[in-house]
Amino acid sequence: MGRALLVALIGFAVSSVLAGTNVDPKVLDACPGYTASNVKVLGGTLTAALKLAGKACNVFGDDIPSLSLKVVYETKNRIHVKITDASSARYEVPESVLPRPSAANPVPPLLANIQFKYTTSPFSFSIVRTSTSEVLFSTASHPIIFESQYLRVKTALPSNANIYGLGEHTNSFRLNPNNTTLTLWSRDAYGVPSGSNLYGNHPVYFEQRKTGTHGVFLLNSNGMDIKLTPGALEYNAIGGLLDFYFLAGSQTDPTEVAKQYAEIVGTPAEVPYWSFGLHQCRFGYQNYIDVSQVITNYSAAGIPLETMWTDIDYMDRRRIFTVDPQYFPMNRMREVVDYLHAHDQHFVLMTDPAVGYAPGEGYGPFDRGTQADIWLKNSNGSAHLGLVWPGVSVYPDWFNPKIQSYWSNEFSIFYSPKTGLDIDGAWIDMNEPASFCDLPCDNPFEQAVQQNLPPPRSSPPPDPNTPIFVNATAVGRINKRDNLLNPLYSINNAAPGGNLSSKTAFTNTVHANGLTEYNTHNLYGTMMSVATHQAMLDRRPGKRTLVITRSTFAGAGAHVGKWLGDNFAEDDHYRLSIAGMLGMATVYQVPMVGADICGFAGNTTETLCARWATLGAFYPFMRNHNADNAISQEFYRWPQTTAAAKNALDIRYRLIDYFYTAFHQASELGTPVVSPMWFKYPKDTATYGIEYQFFFGDSILVSPVTDPSSTSVSIYLPKDVFYDFKTLAPVQGKGAQVQLSNIALSEIPVHIKGGVILPLREKAQMTTAELRETDFEFVVAPGADGSASGSLYIDDGESIKQARQTEVSLVYKFGTLTVLGQFGYKTGVNVARVKVLGVSKAPKSAFLNGKLVAQKGIKYDKAAKVLQVDVGLPFTHGFTLTVV
Ligand SMILES: *[C@@H]1O[C@H](CO)[C@@H](O)[C@H](O)[C@H]1NC(C)=O
Ligand SMILES: *[C@@H]1O[C@H](CO)[C@@H](O)[C@H](O)[C@H]1NC(C)=O
Ligand SMILES: *[C@@H]1O[C@H](CO)[C@@H](O)[C@H](O)[C@H]1NC(C)=O
Ligand SMILES: *[C@@H]1O[C@H](CO)[C@@H](O)[C@H](O)[C@H]1NC(C)=O
Ligand SMILES: *[C@@H]1O[C@H](CO)[C@@H](O)[C@H](O)[C@H]1NC(C)=O
Ligand SMILES: *[C@@H]1O[C@H](CO)[C@@H](O)[C@H](O)[C@H]1NC(C)=O
Ligand SMILES: *[C@@H]1O[C@H](CO)[C@@H](O)[C@H](O)[C@H]1NC(C)=O
Repeated sequence: MGRALLVALIGFAVSSVLAGTNVDPKVLDACPGYTASNVKVLGGTLTAALKLAGKACNVFGDDIPSLSLKVVYETKNRIHVKITDASSARYEVPESVLPRPSAANPVPPLLANIQFKYTTSPFSFSIVRTSTSEVLFSTASHPIIFESQYLRVKTALPSNANIYGLGEHTNSFRLNPNNTTLTLWSRDAYGVPSGSNLYGNHPVYFEQRKTGTHGVFLLNSNGMDIKLTPGALEYNAIGGLLDFYFLAGSQTDPTEVAKQYAEIVGTPAEVPYWSFGLHQCRFGYQNYIDVSQVITNYSAAGIPLETMWTDIDYMDRRRIFTVDPQYFPMNRMREVVDYLHAHDQHFVLMTDPAVGYAPGEGYGPFDRGTQADIWLKNSNGSAHLGLVWPGVSVYPDWFNPKIQSYWSNEFSIFYSPKTGLDIDGAWIDMNEPASFCDLPCDNPFEQAVQQNLPPPRSSPPPDPNTPIFVNATAVGRINKRDNLLNPLYSINNAAPGGNLSSKTAFTNTVHANGLTEYNTHNLYGTMMSVATHQAMLDRRPGKRTLVITRSTFAGAGAHVGKWLGDNFAEDDHYRLSIAGMLGMATVYQVPMVGADICGFAGNTTETLCARWATLGAFYPFMRNHNADNAISQEFYRWPQTTAAAKNALDIRYRLIDYFYTAFHQASELGTPVVSPMWFKYPKDTATYGIEYQFFFGDSILVSPVTDPSSTSVSIYLPKDVFYDFKTLAPVQGKGAQVQLSNIALSEIPVHIKGGVILPLREKAQMTTAELRETDFEFVVAPGADGSASGSLYIDDGESIKQARQTEVSLVYKFGTLTVLGQFGYKTGVNVARVKVLGVSKAPKSAFLNGKLVAQKGIKYDKAAKVLQVDVGLPFTHGFTLTVV
């Protein structure tokens, strides 16, 4: 978490920035561009030399006179276009951070779904869809500018284009195509202000047209502004290469573009089954007693708490890998963890990257890091000092060859199951990396005193002998000429003063491999993520883990999940969380994502928190989290919030195997686990701008009440068959808005999209461990053609390599449900019953595996049109059920 203190500063900063943003576009368009020569085509590969076509314009430094162009048709659906300096090496994202997909077997252009076209003088290129000749990307009217510290490419777009992605940001999901600047530069963005750069960097967008969906990824980690103006999209990067991947997507199914992007950045890491349970956290738990009480109070309220979290409060003087001996003594905290584990519950702690600067104090993590010489360094070779929670701090250098052994070792000591805190997941924050030091930051020691860091405790320590859990009921890489501090093009960084080094490690600091922070800043959080994920795997070999980070770069999702940072307990942020989630899950391949439920900063209200509990139940990662200066907001604090959490968790938990199956498919194929409405209705233009409705998995349409204090909402239902999740009654979508009213605070409108078979758990129990022991109920929701299908994947929920898996396909056609597949993993549960929805008349009889089902095993609800047939078969074999 960042600090509330920064709010006023940020407001000031935004208006004081004089960004390159203000350059007259005519100046850029007057640049000479390049001329292509020596063009060679060999199969799916094209190379050419690009020479500056006229007098250099030198807008933000000197134009580089000769460039090299290489185009490779890497797959049928992917063209890689790489433009770099022909005479000297430039920084590019290291393969060690983002391994590139194989380009060993280029495909012949004739077979490709998109084509690279070019004109030689002035040089420009376009990407065209093969089947329709539609131009998807074109630099025709705007010269490419390539300078040491400034790159510019501008493409034409259709007017009113539907562009999604280019985050992390808190703008609308569908970006305003007429006037948006997206700045990519990791920042500790307290309050996640819209229109500013945030924690993560994902230079990829999907564009939706009625004729198809395609994607564009600029693999570049330097600071950049991407500007959307009427009919155009312009990249302005302050380093790196023009390294584009163009994705053909599909003319019919947007999911394809997501899968194609996953082929580059990797599919998401699988997470443990338990991580889909409810997480509780806050900044400001005073001591171990507080933590234990939250656990018991959740049980007492009957709300299924799966995982308890603790923020930096637990640390001794806010130093990582320590516990406060008085407030969070190790022995008592071990009791808390033991208690949780004994009840099939889990524990997660925060670890920041910054290590408190403490020479000669016997602070092991600092001493061992100093000994190993793994800190991020100033250009003169001294350790770079920042100011973070523990006061003056040093930063681990994730490029140092010894960093993994250092980090894994610290994890193995502090998080030792035998003598330390046996965490089940890791939470990493402040990894932009953040610093509280105000520029010029020439004396961080003085600023530490001024800023009162680390802050003293505000309450007296508890009696170390206070019993806990009494009577608790159990339940469940440099160009020397470059100006690393002051490049001429200044991106629109929202940090105070807009300086690249503001509130973070200086951009002239140097990594062990010689790379500078100038180039790699945007990778810091992702590299910490990978190292932390590895450290967790080293602690529990062979087991999946949950790592939740704040800062990300393209590819982070292959290792970790992400929370959306320090939001506010405000209606706006409740709504915006949907766009944030869709950006991460649908576009950037970081699907284990969620916002702080009920809001991080500021005081929430019973109403907002209740509504947010219901929305949050449909975030892949569901966590209630709060700031230290805000009122408590555990779901049990208010009756209506309790009711809302219970109801929403009931739905979430019944759907957990459906979602787990979706996540498994995502990890194999890159199919999004949550998606915007247009993903399922790509020809329906009315869906392109829908911000507040989304699909959880393939078929659960979630339409939250958009104004938390209202009990009604207007939702859009495309022309399709839906079923109300609560009543199971059919609802015919007409391609129009539908007004819903009387929506209680505990409720959230959820619809099943016709055509699916949902494998639901029969009831939602206390922990996910118990949930796995409850029976299934299959809900058949036929589509307009009367058929439906679904799938179910089950494994042990935690092993990386699974010895036994159950994979079942569910098909319903002509009145017969066929369940078949492999049943390697023994669930030990039954399929209790099957419900068929939208049945207009009572059936005469039902046959289970060909045998007549007794009449008392068949129920028909005429009003809801639901037919229910008892099955009661152990889920160890397939079966058929026919209704006539
Ligand atoms: C952008 O401009 C187009 C064309 O003038 C207009 O149709 C559209 O409504 C504008 N979009 C937004 C979000 O303002
Ligand atoms: C574009 O957006 C900026 C920043 O939000 C705003 O100041 C400006 O007035 C907008 N311009 C137009 C033409 O809407
Ligand atoms: C837990 O509940 C008890 C009894 O209502 C209350 O006194 C205590 O303050 C609660 N503590 C927390 C941390 O919720
Ligand atoms: C090295 O550079 C840092 C940051 O500019 C400065 O604070 C420090 O005093 C320098 N150290 C030496 C030994 O010159
Ligand atoms: C940014 O901050 C650094 C460090 O204080 C300083 O050297 C540099 O001149 C600043 N740049 C601008 C544009 O203020
Ligand atoms: C625990 O339960 C016993 C028996 O009901 C009761 O006497 C005792 O006061 C309870 N202890 C606490 C700390 O609530
Ligand atoms: C939140 O509530 C507390 C307790 O009522 C109050 O002291 C504090 O000022 C409130 N914070 C805000 C931002 O309103």
